[in-house]
Amino acid sequence: MKHSLFRICSLPVILLTLATQLMAQETVPPYLDDNQPIETRIEDALSRMTLKEKIALIHAQSKFSTPGCPRLGIPELWLSDGPHGVRMEFVWDDWNHADWTNDSCTAYPALTCLAATFNPKLAFEYGNAIGQEARYRKKDIILGPGVNIYRTPLSGRNFEYMGEDPYLSSQMVVPYIKGMQQNGVAACMKHFALNNQEKNRDRINVEVSDRALFEIYLPAFKAGVQEGGVWAIMGSYNKYHGQYCSHNERLVNQILKKDWGFDGVMLTDWGSAHDTDEAARYGLDLEMGTWTNGLTWGISSAYDNYYLAQPFLKKIESGELPESLLDEKVRRVLRLCFRTNMNRYRPYGCKLTPEHADIARRVAEEGIVLLKNENHFFPIEKGRYQKIAVIGENAVKQLSQGGGSSELKPQREISPLEGMIEKYGREHIVFTLGYASGEPNYSNELPSGLDADSLVQEAVKVAREADVVLFFGGLNKNFQQDCEGDDRRNMDLPFGQNELIEKLIEANPNTGIILISGNAVSMPWISQIDGLMQSWYLGSQAGTATANVISGEVSPSGKLPFSIPVKLEDNSAHYFGEESYPGVNNTQYYKDDILVGYRWYDTKKIKSRFPFGYGLSYTTFQYGKASTDKKSYQPDETVKLSFTLKNSGKRAGAETVQVYMSQKKPSVLRPVKELKAFKKVCLQPGEEQVVEIEVPVASFAFYDEGIADWKLENDKYMLHVASSSRQIHSTATIEVKNK
Ligand code: GLC
Repeated sequence: MKHSLFRICSLPVILLTLATQLMAQETVPPYLDDNQPIETRIEDALSRMTLKEKIALIHAQSKFSTPGCPRLGIPELWLSDGPHGVRMEFVWDDWNHADWTNDSCTAYPALTCLAATFNPKLAFEYGNAIGQEARYRKKDIILGPGVNIYRTPLSGRNFEYMGEDPYLSSQMVVPYIKGMQQNGVAACMKHFALNNQEKNRDRINVEVSDRALFEIYLPAFKAGVQEGGVWAIMGSYNKYHGQYCSHNERLVNQILKKDWGFDGVMLTDWGSAHDTDEAARYGLDLEMGTWTNGLTWGISSAYDNYYLAQPFLKKIESGELPESLLDEKVRRVLRLCFRTNMNRYRPYGCKLTPEHADIARRVAEEGIVLLKNENHFFPIEKGRYQKIAVIGENAVKQLSQGGGSSELKPQREISPLEGMIEKYGREHIVFTLGYASGEPNYSNELPSGLDADSLVQEAVKVAREADVVLFFGGLNKNFQQDCEGDDRRNMDLPFGQNELIEKLIEANPNTGIILISGNAVSMPWISQIDGLMQSWYLGSQAGTATANVISGEVSPSGKLPFSIPVKLEDNSAHYFGEESYPGVNNTQYYKDDILVGYRWYDTKKIKSRFPFGYGLSYTTFQYGKASTDKKSYQPDETVKLSFTLKNSGKRAGAETVQVYMSQKKPSVLRPVKELKAFKKVCLQPGEEQVVEIEVPVASFAFYDEGIADWKLENDKYMLHVASSSRQIHSTATIEVKNK
């Protein structure tokens, strides 16, 4: 009785509750309902927005944010640099740091280092780590990764990119994007496209063949869109075929959006929009900026003057431009919102964790490239020497600072010197600067109070009295070094380093060199030293990683993501003179065409100092004969290549085996070899493994301008199993036959 009475009394309450819930459900509009498909949410939100609200959504409100739609509760979008970590906060409307105390980050190694690992799994961890930190810092878009091809060793931003080979860049950018975006943070691939130099970057017009465009400069972007599913892309400052890339009809409307099916947001570089009609018609979806007319002048807080702001609104109101152009942009920005800051299910992120430090260290360790190691120079085991001289400004300089927009404010940056002291003990390390440069970023003046000659004299004295000398040199993030906004003027080491190195070797022949840079340098002293490493801007864990590799705790496994020429004139971009680089009268012609990097040196049989893909280990590897699963293939098939790899040394190590393809009798000029696959194999001493690598036959095609499409010719193809572009261990020949 009692129970049934209870039931009868509570019935109205239950019904009322249900009705309330039902009403509540009905009052949640689709655009706010996470259970609705994104496309439904987009159309619903769009239908509710006024013209002015739509215009506001597609341009900046501050240096790094857009306004969203306050009336509808569509949040602001917050953007941040950069490719190697989450940049510090800026003030609302200029390029000054906000000097917050909660915006330090983990500085990850530069992307050249990530590329040098040849480890896509690590690229996923790297992207995920930055995605976590970005999420925690409430950033919805990270302005990276950069995937422009390394065409000249002078380009100021090569350190932000992934080297000279389109296949390597493609393989490394896809996992970076996936790792980042699983945090609900958009990656923004940049700079689309043909930003292969910094000199004159905001005016230069690039003329390049379709073959080079599709075979060399676009593949990494295409992979990022079609395999990585990237949610944003940043246009470059330069022009292509006379039209600015940020609103370029062929690049954006035709190739990126129509051919590749990109459904994300195409945004400007900061100030890279130049025309309202072009921006409206040629695919630009979001205008960010520096000033109202690009990079040179403007009034503060000029965001309403931007090309996609009031000028665009007026052209729509006057009927000069259809509102449908605006709606297409708003749809894409809304899609980005529903993928990021309106996705209630995205994780909360975290930052500065031990796991983040571990990833930064592992990328650094796997990226360091051992280029020369004679007479057992490396590793320098603990206890081998009593007195180790550490000489050079790059042993102490905080290299995560400077360099332009990829600058970071790391919570900690362990310098090589700190790492060496930690590893060997302070009593065994003696340090002196040797040379000095200016403050990070846009200066090159020697800091006051330092005299170059006295630095050299002190360094020579320290070298003479040491058992072994380690010189930490290279480039840095100063202007016209590895820095945004301009290029180096030559390939030489700056700040008098070559002269200093000669003196150090004279004072102590037991001298080794660790170069830290994002670009190749000339090495006049190479024959006089036994030990040489190419290191990178390694970020927070620089010192720990460097000392672990030098001491032998970690065996180096990095491979060069770019060729190191003997001299600048050997490089393809410079071989064809000023019209090719840096351009004449604001136009340059990529006369090297498809022969970039090793494709040039190897085809023209020009000896490079160190080839693409080269890197030594503390152990050695033996390659067996390559074989394939059959001799003849159809275009839609995959070659199964196998060979044995043995660790023939006395310690564990990892080898990145590479597969290069050559076509026997192509109907057009083709490079003598093209990288088509690679795999990193870890082996214990004495261990032998059968390595199996799959190579899609379709990847042997070249871009045929005559048919404006890819063409795979019936022919014989050689597959070279190699440890660099110049060290081929075995070749298997197969035949491709169309049915
Ligand atoms: C810069 C860079 C770009 C960066 C942006 C925002 O000019 O070219 O890579 O993301 O401005 O700082």
